[in-house]
Amino acid sequence: MNLFDNILKHDETLFKNELSLDYEYLPHVLKYREDQQQHIATIIKPLFQGRMGSNILITGKPGIGKTAATKHVLREMEQYSDKIKGLYVNCWKYDTAYKIIVELCQQLGYKWVQNKKTNELMKEIAKILNKKAAVIILDEVDKLKEEQIIYFILEDIYKKCIIMVSNEKDFISYLDERTRSRLMPEILTFEAYTYKETYDILNERKISAFYEDIILDEDFERVVEKTSELKDIRSGLFLLKESGNAAEIRSSRKIENIDVIKAISKLSHFQASKISLDDEEKTLLEIIKGKNGSKSSEIFKEYQIKFNKSDRTFRRKVSKLRDNNLIESKDGKDDQGNLVPFLHFKKL
Ligand SMILES: Nc1ncnc2c1ncn2[C@@H]1O[C@H](COP(=O)(O)OP(=O)(O)OP(=O)(O)O)[C@@H](O)[C@H]1O
Ligand SMILES: [Mg+2]
Repeated sequence: MNLFDNILKHDETLFKNELSLDYEYLPHVLKYREDQQQHIATIIKPLFQGRMGSNILITGKPGIGKTAATKHVLREMEQYSDKIKGLYVNCWKYDTAYKIIVELCQQLGYKWVQNKKTNELMKEIAKILNKKAAVIILDEVDKLKEEQIIYFILEDIYKKCIIMVSNEKDFISYLDERTRSRLMPEILTFEAYTYKETYDILNERKISAFYEDIILDEDFERVVEKTSELKDIRSGLFLLKESGNAAEIRSSRKIENIDVIKAISKLSHFQASKISLDDEEKTLLEIIKGKNGSKSSEIFKEYQIKFNKSDRTFRRKVSKLRDNNLIESKDGKDDQGNLVPFLHFKKL
C-alpha cells in the first residue's frame, strides 16, 4: 500500500448517491411505520367501496416520518387503483386558499386557471373530483394562512378523505367552529423511533448514500446515538451528509471520528434553522423577549396593536413558540390574585 492511497483524487467522491440523504427522498420501503400506514389506509378504504371517507390529523415531533408515511400511502393507493385521486399539498409552500387551489388545478391537469377567482376554480376542482373520490393531504397544515380552504374541500367535494399533518397537536382547536364540526378528524400520533429503529433507518440510508466501508461502525454509531438523542431522523441525515463532506474536504477516502465530531458541532446551527417562523411569529418572539416574564394578556395587547389578530391566532402562535422550546409559559398570580399565564423567553 502506498502512503498516499488514502487521498481522495480531485474527481473522486465518497458519495454513491448523495440524493438518498435528501430530506425529501422517499425510500421504497418505509420500515417501522407499517401500523401507522395501515391505519391511514383504513381511513381511505371506504372510498374504494363508493362510500364516504373520514378525516385524520397526524401529529408528532419533527423528523419522524409523518410526511414520508402519508406520501407512501398515497403512492400505494395510486398503484393499487385509479378509482381515487390522490393530491398532496404542502401548506407551508402553498399557504393561501388561492395558492392551494392553483396547485390542485396543476395536479389535476386543469389549465384554464387565469382570470378565475378562487371560488370559481374551486368549483372546477369539485367538478373533476366529484366524478370519483379524492384523498387530499394537507401537510404542515398549521402553516395555512386561510383555513377557509379546508371548509371549501369539506363542503364542495363529496367523497373524500382529508389527511392533515401537523407538529401542533392542538391545531384543530384553533379552527373555526364551522370547520371543526364538519371535519371531526381522528387523531393519529406518531411516536419517536427507538434506538434500534433509528439505527436501521440510518443504516439503510448510509448504504445507499456512500460507497462501501467508508465509515467505521463506531463512528456510525456516534451518528445514531446523537440522532436518537434528538429523536429526529433528519438530523441523522444531516450528520451523515456533513460527515461525508468533512471527509471530502480533508481529501480522505474514509469518514473518521473527527469528521463526525465536526458534523455534530454544526448541528446546533441546523436545529436553529429548522425552526421556521413566519414574520408574525418572529415579531411575537421579539415582543416576548422585550417584555420577558410579562403576563400573556399584556403581550397580547402589544401583538394586537401590531397585527390586529384575534386572541385565537395569538394563542396558536404562542403554542407554536412553546412547542419549539423558544418560550415558556408559567402560571402566576396577577394583581387581583387570579392565576394567569406569564410568558418567558428561552435562549436556544
Ligand atoms: N421509517 C423510515 N424509514 C426510512 N426513512 C425515514 C423513516 N422515517 C423517516 N424517514 C426519513 O426521515 C426524514 C424525515 O421524515 P419526514 O419528512 O417524514 O418527517 P416529518 O415527521 O414529516 O417531519 P416534519 O414534522 O418536520 O415535517 C425523511 O428523509 C424520511 O425519508
Ligand atoms: Mg413533514
